[in-house]
Amino acid sequence: MAWAATSRGKETLLVELDRRSVLLGLAGLVEARPAAAQIVVRTPKLPWETVKFTLREGDNVWPGLAIRVPGKAPGESSIYAISTICPHQGCQFEFETDYREVSGKIGKALEHPVLFCHCHMSTYDPTDDGRVIHGPAPRPPFRFDFREEARPWSSPG
Ligand code: FES
Repeated sequence: MAWAATSRGKETLLVELDRRSVLLGLAGLVEARPAAAQIVVRTPKLPWETVKFTLREGDNVWPGLAIRVPGKAPGESSIYAISTICPHQGCQFEFETDYREVSGKIGKALEHPVLFCHCHMSTYDPTDDGRVIHGPAPRPPFRFDFREEARPWSSPG
């Protein structure tokens, strides 16, 4: 599951790409390989904090983003970890905190940051499992599996 209960005390995320998920989620975009790819990244802790990462599997490179998404109740939040490859035609989309500007571009009222692709303006809602708010994208972004771990974060390299 890409959604998880909040555990702000945990320091890292182990983000995983499993072969079956890739084949189901992005059929035709990647070559099937037997091994799963993994990466350990810092856990975003504050509401709307993001952590970028790059997951590699053989020759395939997956730009990714983990977002701490605020919940409906005060103090509640969860992690949403996705590939930032746009499901429309493969551009890389961005996490846009200036949602009012995006709102003006797409002509729809927005109330919080969104995921926005500048190629054809597909817009995704990170608070609603990546629901397509606007544009030609056929589906939400690809979600990575992850688990939170208590190991202390130390920057690689
Ligand atoms: S590639 Fe992202 S909207 Fe077309």
